[in-house]
Formats: sequence, structure tokens, C-alpha cells
Amino acid sequence: MDLISYVLIFCLIWASFHFLKSNSPKLPPGPYPLPIIGNILELGQNPHKSLAKLSKIYGPIMHLKFGSINTIVVSSPEIAKEILQKHDYAFPTRITTAATQAHGHHKTSVACLPAGSQWRILRKICKEQMFSTQRLDASRGLRHAKLQKLLKYVQECCVNGKAMDIREAAFVTSLNLISNTLFSLDFAEYNTGSSQELQEIVHGVMRVMGSPNLVDYFPILGWFDPQGIKREAEYYFGKLLAIFDGIINQRQLEMEQNLVSPRKDDLLQALLQISQGSEYELSRNDINHLLLDLFVAGTDTTTITVEWAMTELLSNPHLLSKAKRELLAIIGENKQVEEYDISKLPYLQAIIKETFRYHPPGPYILRCKDGNEELEINNYIIPHNALILVNIWAIGRDPSVWPNQNSFEPERFLSGEIDIKGHNFELIPFGAGRRICPGLSLAYRMVHLMLASLIHNFDWKLESGIKLEEVDMTEKFGLSLQKAVALKAVPLERLIKPVLHIS
Ligand code: HEM
Repeated sequence: MDLISYVLIFCLIWASFHFLKSNSPKLPPGPYPLPIIGNILELGQNPHKSLAKLSKIYGPIMHLKFGSINTIVVSSPEIAKEILQKHDYAFPTRITTAATQAHGHHKTSVACLPAGSQWRILRKICKEQMFSTQRLDASRGLRHAKLQKLLKYVQECCVNGKAMDIREAAFVTSLNLISNTLFSLDFAEYNTGSSQELQEIVHGVMRVMGSPNLVDYFPILGWFDPQGIKREAEYYFGKLLAIFDGIINQRQLEMEQNLVSPRKDDLLQALLQISQGSEYELSRNDINHLLLDLFVAGTDTTTITVEWAMTELLSNPHLLSKAKRELLAIIGENKQVEEYDISKLPYLQAIIKETFRYHPPGPYILRCKDGNEELEINNYIIPHNALILVNIWAIGRDPSVWPNQNSFEPERFLSGEIDIKGHNFELIPFGAGRRICPGLSLAYRMVHLMLASLIHNFDWKLESGIKLEEVDMTEKFGLSLQKAVALKAVPLERLIKPVLHIS
């Protein structure tokens, strides 16, 4: 062969190699990572917004590096479905962060354990003892009683012409609903400041769990804890665990002395009985950390939903009066909303769905890739051990998914085609797949009841001096997306009369 033939063969091999390489799966596109720190600087103060902006440039599946962690950011319903439904089994865990390791929480927490046998047992116990339709129906009276207490408090504010802190009222209600389900105890009273410490603790837990922590990207910094996040997590978890310890000790004493009278029908009682039986292995430590998970996950998310829904309704009075007309027509003037009424209130349901779309209480769904093999999704490689972050905030505000994406329009859900149970990936406020929120059915009842009770029984006006267009809509980023400034509004005697037609 002459030189020209050699050169031709070499060019042919080179071209075929590059052709094959360009057609073989590669990492999803993304911004160029800086040495060592990767793309950490891209996150900013509001990572959910920064990542949504980046997805406009790089597309609905992106690859970023945070320190040494390969992170795949998903921002479309189609790819979310691939990850959370089709390949659910390849992503059994959430990332174990330094914060979740406080008090060894990650070793027993239902929210942190990989989807293995211990996790399945905890989910089963929660389902059987707390979230089954039968259990929820049985605890309906309890929620009714707590709602009556809320209404009594609103009535007092109404009589005094006093602006009410909607967040505080929603928090005390959610707190007592959960604390009664878990322990048969009220944890707080309205307007006494009694809920303040617990509110700080719960928000503290959500904040430290959600804050980007350098230690998670550079484990070598673990000893120094430069942002103090692990220390804060130890403090907040410690406070809650100590409260629960006291309650458990007391209950055990009562059980030993046969003093639990009337017999308590709460989760703690069920857990203690299970721990004494032989069906499941459940230690005192497991019980404590399960209670912590349920307590934190159940109070903050429901409070946030009610506060955002009220904020949107007070900023859009025509939507509020439409919701009130529906309630007056279906429930009537002198009756309270009950749980079995929710299915008859399509506009109320649409408001809650729109609140979940526009203000998802949790901006992300997190998963970790299992095993040593890579996976291919949409022609891209998902590296093993990659962190998957489904940005549901970005999906909720994507104009290709939602027309008028920046406007609060419950009407878009009136056809009832989209539900929130993890089937319609354009709206997954409770996640999807095996790890979907186990508290969905309880949360569904709580948020509809709270919102309906507030708007059915009273008219509302914004705190004096605040105009409609001045209502603060800023979000505060954490594991949950709280409203930065608490909503304050004055409840008024209800004026409008029932009409029979909602259009
Ligand atoms: C509006 C209210 C709520 C919202 C929006 C919400 C949302 C979520 C989301 C997005 C997840 C992650 C799901 C996934 O990864 O696919 C989750 C998990 C979880 N939620 Fe909720 N949640 C709410 C209320 C509740 C309540 C009331 C409870 C219990 C009292 C609860 C307990 C949990 C637990 C234990 C997990 C972890 C499940 C696991 O990893 O297996 N949540 N929730």
C-alpha cells in the first residue's frame, strides 16, 4: 500500500470512530463545570429558579456537577415519568446529606432509608395505622373538632376587627391535627405564641434539610461543618426528639400501670403495641424517628398550601367570590364543610390543584441512582450514583405545558382530567412512584377542609394599608417553599347570599 492508501484508511477509521462516538449515548447537556467546585455557583439563592432558567438553555434533562456529585436535573413531565415511573426501581433512595445524619436520623427514617425491607415495613405500618381510608374515616371527627376550634378563633378576630396571621392559624391547625393523630394531644393554642417555638423548629428542620450544604459536595469538609448546617440539624432534631421522648415515656408508664383511659386510638399507641408484638421489629428509636418524619412532613407542607391558596384568593377577589358562591350553593349558608363534601366542590379542588402547580410546597423530588450500572434515558447516560432532581417548580411554570403559566387560574383544572396522585406528571406535588407521599390522602382532606372553612364562613380583606397588587409573593427557599412574608388578613362577617349556579 502506498502512503495515500494509508492516509485514506486512517481517515476512514477516524471518521467511523467519531461517527460512532457521536451516536453513542452521552451525558445530558449542561453548563461547563469549574474544576473542583463544578456548577455550585450556578445555584444562587433560589436554586429552583436558577435551575429552571438553565433548563431553558440546556433542555429538560441536564447534567450538572456539584463538587464530585453528578446531578441530573429533570424539568419536563415526559422525562419525570421515565425516571419516577418507568425506571422507578433504578432510583430507590434519596441522597443522605449531612443534615439527615443528625441524631442518626438517616439510619431509621422512612424518608431517608433506601426502598428496602425496613422502608417497606415503615410504609406499611403508616398505611395500616394512619392513612388507610378506614383509619382516615375513623378520625374524621377529630379533624372536624379542630376545624371548629379554628373557626372559633377566626370569629374572635372578626369580632375584634383584628388582622389574623393566616400562616400562624394554618400552622396551629395543622400542628394540632397531626399531633392529635400521632399523640392525642394539642400542641398549641391560637394567638398565644405557644406555637412559635414549634413553628421555628419545624421550619428550621425544613430549611437545614433543603439548604445546599458544601459538606455534601465535599465530604472532606464534614469535620468543619463550615455552614453550621449539621449543628443546626442536631439542635432542631434534638428538640423534637426530646419532646417525643417525654410523651413516649409518659405513655409507656400509663400502659404499664393500665392507666390509658379512655383507650387512645392514636399512632403512638399502635406503634408501641406493634413494638411489643412479634410481627415487625420496631425499636424505640425507630418509633421516635418515624414520629419525627411524620410530624415535620405533615405540618409544614399543609400550612404552606393553605397560606399560598389564601394569598392567591385574596389577591384575586373574583376567584374568591366564585369559590364562596360554590360553597354557598353546595353546602348552604348555615352548615360547615365536611370531608364528604369535598368531592362535590370542583372549584375548591381546582383552587388547590392550581396552588400546587404554582406554589408546590416542595420544589423538587429527589432520587439517587442505585448500583454500578449506568442507565440510558432519552439517549443520555445517567451515571451510577447520580443524584436526580426533578424540578416540579419548573414543570409547573413551563409555558409549553401550561398556557398563561404565570397567572393563577383554577379554571384550567375544572375538566378534572388531571389529578395529583402521581399519574399526571405535569402535576406531581406529592411525587410519584414507590416513594410517593404516604400522607397524600390525609393532606388532601386537611388542606381542602381548612381552606373551605376559612372562605365559606367569612369574607376577608387584606391587612390595612396593603393594596391587592402589593401582596408579597416572594418565596423563601428550603426543602419546602414557604411564603417569605406571612399573610395577614382581617376576617369579616359573610355578606353574599347563596346562588345556585357557578360559571
Ligand atoms: C400538602 C401536603 C403535602 C405535600 C405537598 C407533600 C409532598 C411530598 C413529596 C413531594 C414527597 C416526596 C415524594 C417522592 O419522592 O416521590 C413526600 C414524601 C413524604 N411525605 Fe409528604 N406531603 C404532604 C403532606 C404529608 C403529610 C400530611 C404526611 C404525614 C403526616 C407526609 C409524610 C411524608 C413522608 C413520610 C414522606 C417520605 C416518604 C418516603 O420517602 O417513602 N406528607 N411528601
